[in-house]
Amino acid sequence: MINKDTIQNIIETARIEEVVGDYVTLKKRGVNLLGNCPFHNEKTPSFTVSPTKGIFKCFGCGKAGNSVNFLMEHEHLSYPEALRYLAKKYFIDIAEEKETPEQLQMQGEKESLYTVSAYAQKFFSDTLTNTDEGKAIGLSYFKERGFDEKTIEKFQLGYCPEERDGFTKSALSNGHKLEYLVKTGLSISKDNQNYDRFRGRVMFPIHNLSGRVIGFGGRILSSDKTKPKYVNSPESEIYHKSNVLYGIFFAKTAIIAHDNCFLVEGYTDVISMHLSGIENVVASSGTSLTTEQIKLIRRYTPNITILYDGDAAGIKASFRGIDMILEEGMNVKILLFPDGEDPDSYSRKHRPAEVRDFIQNNSSDFISFKTNLLVKETNNDPIKKASLIKEIVETIALIPDAIIRSVYTKECSAIMKLSEQTLINELNKIRNKKATQKSKDIANEQEIPEITEFIDEQQVETDDLKFEQHEKEIIRFMLNYGNSLIDVDAEDEDGERIITKISVAKFIVDDLLKEKELIKIQNPLMQAVFDEYSNQLLNNKIPDLQFFINHSEKLVSQAVIELVSNPYELSENWEKKHRIKVMTEDKEIKKNVFKVIDSYKLKTLDKMIAEIRDKLKVETNEEECVLLQQKHIMFQSIRKKFANKLSRIMTR
Ligand code: CTP
Ligand code: MN
Repeated sequence: MINKDTIQNIIETARIEEVVGDYVTLKKRGVNLLGNCPFHNEKTPSFTVSPTKGIFKCFGCGKAGNSVNFLMEHEHLSYPEALRYLAKKYFIDIAEEKETPEQLQMQGEKESLYTVSAYAQKFFSDTLTNTDEGKAIGLSYFKERGFDEKTIEKFQLGYCPEERDGFTKSALSNGHKLEYLVKTGLSISKDNQNYDRFRGRVMFPIHNLSGRVIGFGGRILSSDKTKPKYVNSPESEIYHKSNVLYGIFFAKTAIIAHDNCFLVEGYTDVISMHLSGIENVVASSGTSLTTEQIKLIRRYTPNITILYDGDAAGIKASFRGIDMILEEGMNVKILLFPDGEDPDSYSRKHRPAEVRDFIQNNSSDFISFKTNLLVKETNNDPIKKASLIKEIVETIALIPDAIIRSVYTKECSAIMKLSEQTLINELNKIRNKKATQKSKDIANEQEIPEITEFIDEQQVETDDLKFEQHEKEIIRFMLNYGNSLIDVDAEDEDGERIITKISVAKFIVDDLLKEKELIKIQNPLMQAVFDEYSNQLLNNKIPDLQFFINHSEKLVSQAVIELVSNPYELSENWEKKHRIKVMTEDKEIKKNVFKVIDSYKLKTLDKMIAEIRDKLKVETNEEECVLLQQKHIMFQSIRKKFANKLSRIMTR
């Protein structure tokens, strides 16, 4: 668990423009930064980042939040994962509070699975480096493979002892529950006996995007052919194989920097590539490539290079993967290693610079790769050739972008010695068939209009504002000016009239609480913000904007971000209308405080009067009617007073 002070420190240190800037290209626009929204497709940028407020907001799709929210949304991280990510980014040491047995009990299931996995990783690493068995068997194996200490530490490699339940025993005695050990697959419980799944294996932890351990691969060291070479964690609530890429945590930054991602087969290939100085590499390890995995890569780059060892069966199997990548609108290149070498074996035989050269100079685009490979098989048999053309055109047809399609069509026509037009005809046939299907599919889907510009079209008259907008306006005012001081009339202890300075927040809270019988905030989120003010004011504290933006209650922080990032805030209209440039002077702030409060009260009264009228229309009991009429008259007169006061303020 991350302690409170550390969380505070992380949130204060994180710069929204840097956090977002790692994923989105931002351009300066006034005091804000602007870019294309990473959460929806758009051509005209409407994704705004405000460094001063520490928030982002997309005026296209409405997504908004602070640095932590951005990471949670964009990287699919949990709250603690996002904090850990930021801590790493800003070199903040995380002060952990070790979970007490009670806290372990309280954790949700998912969090418990993470905790158990983290414990296992530490146990395996510790066994590898600090026990005789680990050193003699595990460590010497890694050294033999050329893994140095730094790499072993970075990838958190480990060793699980031979003893039947060495790990399980240790975990249980440290307060971890058997239930979670079994759910993560680390332990197997059978006939009242516990077994370690990975006993006698070297361990490769699998990390999620934020670097937390979610599963393991364990490699056997003996040459016992009856046992599988690799054993992997089973699926669990935290480990979904089809959504995970081995090495992605260590590769992210390099993938962005190189705008390319290498895809290899397994653990050892990823690590060997790192040893050769190539860090933008991931493995789909264990499963064949999935769409989810491709989408994961696409968050960082549109370019994938697949590295294959040269065996033909594997290459044929890869065609499906290539099609899937193209279908996602990504570019794919292929690199074939010579004679049965894989990235791991190749990099063990060559110097890092040679490996890098080889990779740089030998990758080919998918079309020439696939065509050349298949052409060899046709042996000039016209029927085979025809079906080959169909196959290749079908692949090209998957590419969503027309320009890229035509580039590949040209290339294919050159390699196959076929007229381009023939290919284009064939291509169009396939695309048309698909389009018909697709239009059928989406016929019922509602079209989302594209928002390109944000022009304030409604000249909002304050009187026409909905009740809720007034509430929001009050809260927004407190958020922006809560700390400013204004002069107000007051009475001292002797009943003398004096002028005293008081904060806007206090003034508003006091004023509304004075009439809490009459005025109740309707919107629960606005009420929550208001309550926060009134509670903190009891201790003479005024929460600031950042406090709410980073509020632990996500709904509250969202609501506040929404309020302060909306460009058509009511007060701006007021400011425009009444030619108030900026509210820097106390006098202006004070004037606006009154405006904002009194129009709210007025609106409340209007609402109540309307309610009374509605009741009067249906009330049959005469006494009740009289009471209602009296109430009506009273409210009307209060209303009149307010309206007069307000019009004085407005015209002053
Ligand atoms: N792999 C796997 N399951 C297997 C075999 C392989 O998940 N049964 C994956 C592993 O991720 C491994 C990669 O494929 O890192 C490469 O396989 P292989 O070369 O057979 O494994 P190595 O550990 O490199 O073995 P060797 O030393 O024999 O090359
Ligand atoms: Mn290998």
